[in-house]
Amino acid sequence: MDIQQLDDRHIWHPYTQYATSPKPLVVKSAEGSLIHTTDGNTIIDAVASWWVNIHGHSNARLAKAVHDQFLKLEHVIFAGFTHNAATGLAESLLPLLPGQADRLFFSDNGSTAVEVGVKMALQYFHNKGEGHRNQIICFEEGFHGETFGGMSLSGDLEFNKPYESKLFDVHRIPAPIGNKAEQSIKQMEDLLRSGQVAAFLFEPLVLGTAGMMMYSPEVLSKMIALARSYGALCVADEVMTGFGRTGTLFACEQSDEKPDIIAMSKGLTGGSMPMGLTSCPEFVFEAFVSEDKMKTFFHGHSYTGNPLACAVAIESLNMLTETSCRASMDRIISKHEAFAKRHENNSNFKEIRQCGTILALEYQTEEKTSYFNSRRDRLYDFFIQRGVLLRPLGNVIYILPPYCITDDELDQVYEAIEASLEINW
Ligand SMILES: Cc1ncc(COP(=O)(O)O)c(C=O)c1O
Repeated sequence: MDIQQLDDRHIWHPYTQYATSPKPLVVKSAEGSLIHTTDGNTIIDAVASWWVNIHGHSNARLAKAVHDQFLKLEHVIFAGFTHNAATGLAESLLPLLPGQADRLFFSDNGSTAVEVGVKMALQYFHNKGEGHRNQIICFEEGFHGETFGGMSLSGDLEFNKPYESKLFDVHRIPAPIGNKAEQSIKQMEDLLRSGQVAAFLFEPLVLGTAGMMMYSPEVLSKMIALARSYGALCVADEVMTGFGRTGTLFACEQSDEKPDIIAMSKGLTGGSMPMGLTSCPEFVFEAFVSEDKMKTFFHGHSYTGNPLACAVAIESLNMLTETSCRASMDRIISKHEAFAKRHENNSNFKEIRQCGTILALEYQTEEKTSYFNSRRDRLYDFFIQRGVLLRPLGNVIYILPPYCITDDELDQVYEAIEASLEINW
């Protein structure tokens, strides 16, 4: 049996409707921004493989970091033991995080990194004897993952319907996009007045899954300041925005007010290994330090603090903070700006928006934007046939490339988008 037959028989792929989806493409290898399939085609990874890849595929420096670490220590239980891959990562990363970040808690992915942040906030108040502070504010359009916590904390997503009765309650306010900012801030203050809000959870500056919806650092600052003035902890979900995506290392660098807790994953290991991290300030940690064992943070996954993931994260961070990487990001930002300018009056687009290395183009159409609309599937196939991986979010196509993407590759992505405008969808 060939790979596709074996896959067809034994594998269940994510976010895939088997009745209508084409067969998965079999990948032979990948390097830089290019994915090579066994049928001889090459595809430009313009979405950084679900937003994780920052330095390109099969990167030799990242491979060496994993290899060298494996020969010393591949994994050890992280309760009662520690190692210099974890402490080294803490030393490299903590000084770079916006706000007061003193400690790192390890998990395995973006959903768990967010859940850890929210659990920390809830138990922080519980441990301080303020258990009545148990409410959470988040955005109606937000996305924070697929675990039950992640689903509960996300907006009212159609794909979460089957589990709806099992999700916990949160307060959802409109994301402060454009003229909704005022209403959003007002609703937030109304909720905060109860004195029962433990956490304000947000995707800073860009709501990715909602369709790369963007809002300003000034509004974010106002909301953080407001939440803090009512005693709530501010939890930033930097899972997608972290590690340079928005033009700064972390999106919250751009707001004057900084979060208390930060959830990270995706670009953390350069897109090579699964890992989640949640940072917090010392005052949060201190609320868990007690002779009373019930104040312990009872959370930990089997692969918590995995040394291979830590080692590759350190090397990825080294690369990210080198001037050549910054120059690549600036190059992408300028090219996106030029492309956006070229199409600013193009009536095919309802809106073009950019935040750092993310460029989002929303098609002008009668069809309601939704993950389920058929235009999305047709566009996906169209781009793949042109050798470009773009995964439209409803009517929104976005480019979110590895930072090593070349000018030529980016031009091919822009050309594919321009070609899509010639077609009557
Ligand atoms: C903002 C945000 N938070 C959390 C997640 C969940 O991350 P993961 O898929 O690694 O669980 C995602 C995934 O896309 C995300 O975009």
